[in-house]
Amino acid sequence: MKSSTQTVLEHTDVPRHIAIIMDGNGRWAKKRLLPRIMGHKKGVDNLEGIVRHCATIGVQYLTVFAFSTENWRRPADEVSFLMNMFVEALKKRVQKLHDNDLRLRVIGTHERFSAQIVDGITAAEALTAGNQGMTLTVAADYGGRQDIVQAANALLQEGVTQITEEAMRRHLALGDVPEPDLFIRTGGEARISNFMLWQLAYTELYFTDILWPDFNAAALDEAITSFRQRERRFGRTSEQLPAEEQRSC
Ligand code: IPE
Ligand code: IPE
Ligand code: MG
Repeated sequence: MKSSTQTVLEHTDVPRHIAIIMDGNGRWAKKRLLPRIMGHKKGVDNLEGIVRHCATIGVQYLTVFAFSTENWRRPADEVSFLMNMFVEALKKRVQKLHDNDLRLRVIGTHERFSAQIVDGITAAEALTAGNQGMTLTVAADYGGRQDIVQAANALLQEGVTQITEEAMRRHLALGDVPEPDLFIRTGGEARISNFMLWQLAYTELYFTDILWPDFNAAALDEAITSFRQRERRFGRTSEQLPAEEQRSC
């Protein structure tokens, strides 16, 4: 067992897939008497540092929740600010991802996005598709229930008479990617809020009070250190597990 104060991680011992609910932007701003949108601005900047750190320590897939199907319920001006921020990020930050050999994917329905956003997503995914580094997946207008329903509908379209777990898995938005090893939610809430409901079945869950704009590389290392101290049993007993299989990453 490693010391929980350790912050420098070895390249070989990190989760293959990390999923993050980036929560707490609004409260970060409120604490500073700033408008909520300033928290979102700071949140996007923060993501850049976390992406860089994950890629450096050898994470293969980083999936972040940026906007849920339920977030459309927010005040119109906040939603429109977030949409503009999305457009800006697609314009200004994608090249940097590409320069660093990272792949960008965006999952979610996209139905309510403007043509500008949809085109930006298509272009960004195409530009970075052949890159060999970490895959950053942004879940935007994404809902875990919606994802399960669209997978079931896709199977119906194929004319199946029976649905299997394996067929469902393949039709989900990240059906071609290993399930998350580690889930992190910042901002103090201990809930899933309709994130990857199917895929989180055996993911190690980590909740922190740190607000997303303050969640830095050291905080991420702490989450990974907690992950490394856990025994993943997948239903079996402790005695059945060979030591090297326990984290399965
Ligand atoms: C997360 O931060 C970002 C989005 C949901 C878009 P919040 O905006 O939910 O921040 P809090 O939870 O109100 O502090
Ligand atoms: C979850 O955060 C969605 C994102 C971070 C994009 P919310 O702030 O929307 O979640 P609830 O409403 O507190 O459950
Ligand atoms: Mg929130």
